[in-house]
Amino acid sequence: MIDISFLENTDSFENVINSRVTVHDFKTQAVPKNVVDKALFSLAAAPNHFLTRPWRVYVLGQKIVNEIVELNTAKVRIDKGEKAAQIKKERWTKVPCWILVNCTISQDEIRFQEDYAACACGIQNMMLTFWSNGYGTKWTTGPVIRDPDFSSIVGFDTSKEVVVGLLWVGLPNAIPEKRVRDPEHNVTWLP
Ligand SMILES: Cc1cc2nc3c(=O)[nH]c(=O)nc-3n(C[C@H](O)[C@H](O)[C@H](O)COP(=O)(O)O)c2cc1C
Repeated sequence: MIDISFLENTDSFENVINSRVTVHDFKTQAVPKNVVDKALFSLAAAPNHFLTRPWRVYVLGQKIVNEIVELNTAKVRIDKGEKAAQIKKERWTKVPCWILVNCTISQDEIRFQEDYAACACGIQNMMLTFWSNGYGTKWTTGPVIRDPDFSSIVGFDTSKEVVVGLLWVGLPNAIPEKRVRDPEHNVTWLP
């Protein structure tokens, strides 16, 4: 007999997927460790060709976060001036939970593409797990992650790992409107 128990929550599962939005503004309240653990568990459940487990995940503590915020503030100060730098600093300082997901670099191009895809699936799993537990997320890939000092601060080797996403997590201060998506967009139905 085929086990179809997984279908029982399909309705609410689709709701989770379709209601999730990127959150930009977070409450400072910490994200409980058990919720972070659930999200990490769901990342590892991502589809992954050859089960290479290519993700390298860093849950950033306050010391590292402060160093990244300072690095970004200095960058913004150079590009946009002191006022813009302070506004960014204030916003970034409020984000209560930071999770970096890197992918191991494979010399085999196809393997690397597949590994990167698996990491992206893992990040989406995490975002949906957080969302279904009432926590918002923002997947970021801003310029700071490409700064040489970023990898030094976190402590990874850029010849071995590449950043897929820096995930911000927290209770939403505001939930943006879901933008309407066209489900037919970019889809060709072939005979
Ligand atoms: C690979 C990737 C990188 C992203 N980088 C950023 C970013 O640097 N800054 C940002 O504001 N949003 C970033 N986003 C979030 C997207 O802008 C967001 O998902 C998109 O606007 C759709 O909105 P939604 O998540 O609310 O559906 C990123 C998303 C992905 C998948």
